[in-house]
Amino acid sequence: MSIRTLDDLLAEGVSGRRVLVRADLNVPLDKQTGAITDDGRIRAVLPTLGALVEAGAKVVVCSHLGRPKGAPDPQFSLGPVAGRLGELLGAPVHFATDTVGDSARSTVADLADGQVALLENLRFNAGETSKDETERGAFADQLAAFGDAYVDDAFGAVHRKHASVFDVPARLPHVAGRLVLREVEVLSKLTGAPERPYVVVLGGSKVSDKLAVIEALLPTVDRLLIGGGMCFTFLKAQGLEVGTSLLEKDMVETCRNLLERSGGKIMLPVDVVVADAFAPDAAHDTVRVDGIPSHRLGLDVGPETVAGFSATLSQAKTIFWNGPMGVFEMPAFAAGTRGIAEAITKADAFSVVGGGDSAAAVRALGLDESSFGHISTGGGASLEYLEGKTLPGIAALEN
Ligand code: 3PG
Ligand code: MG
Repeated sequence: MSIRTLDDLLAEGVSGRRVLVRADLNVPLDKQTGAITDDGRIRAVLPTLGALVEAGAKVVVCSHLGRPKGAPDPQFSLGPVAGRLGELLGAPVHFATDTVGDSARSTVADLADGQVALLENLRFNAGETSKDETERGAFADQLAAFGDAYVDDAFGAVHRKHASVFDVPARLPHVAGRLVLREVEVLSKLTGAPERPYVVVLGGSKVSDKLAVIEALLPTVDRLLIGGGMCFTFLKAQGLEVGTSLLEKDMVETCRNLLERSGGKIMLPVDVVVADAFAPDAAHDTVRVDGIPSHRLGLDVGPETVAGFSATLSQAKTIFWNGPMGVFEMPAFAAGTRGIAEAITKADAFSVVGGGDSAAAVRALGLDESSFGHISTGGGASLEYLEGKTLPGIAALEN
């Protein structure tokens, strides 16, 4: 792989130069208060930012947050993230209240060597995510004007063909940041020759989101353990009744087909926790998967499932986990996710936690992050990497 790295850029010397850093500061926010509920993605970019600050660069950071529709939307402002980033860096972060407008221009122009600026949400601009090359290119021109060099450290967004990820590197000398390098290094171990048994645990709500990765992984893995909301579509495909659990009716046939072709590699829950409603205080019980009452919905995997999955995980030498086993945000339905996470940490295996929700779950459940081999900051990105897809953000760095 012919990717230049941050160290190459530092070796050239960046003192006094403006370095535009694409980060993925898309952190989860509390729906009521707007407070940052997990700052893992902010912390993950600190090694790159710290190195640039120390080398005396004028550091211009840009990121998206959430999915605003190409226009300013206060609930998705990066303002709170600038505050938290400043706390973690131990120096104030100069926040621009627009992305490429007057505020951004003056904020960047006023930066002293070793100072950091954060631009407002990239997705407040239609050009960022546009499918139209010209529109995207015009926005990329404006962004590129803020840097003498570009660093991509937004692993969570490398699967997006967006202006800041794909088009800016075509306009500036470009390198991969520390986080992107580490993520690619780790994930390439999984696609290369993983030590066996190689066990993958998939959860989360939708089969349709995970279909491509299941297809890609089936020939490679020794075992595929399926939990989370998506397990109910698989259980239905086995002819079981799933009550009012999450069900993707149009995926049942696909799941049946996958089960048939999996050669027994796919393991499904044997028991689940069913509740009267999707609520933290709903009445709930553990039942066998062939006994889900018609009026109740499954919100977690049960203890026997955790025991069975854990036994398989204890044999593994390589583990990849993406997606919670249940609604871990509600304590009554967190035991499955916690149990599987603990089994992964106990296994004598190289373990990778894939992104977004599962990484947040590890931290929300108070588990020791250092007992996992690697916690990826990319959910979709790590899955697409494992699928073997070309990631636009990585491809752009290779050119
Ligand atoms: C993520 O959280 O998945 C990344 O930040 C990418 O965001 P997106 O899925 O909205 O493109
Ligand atoms: Mg995503």
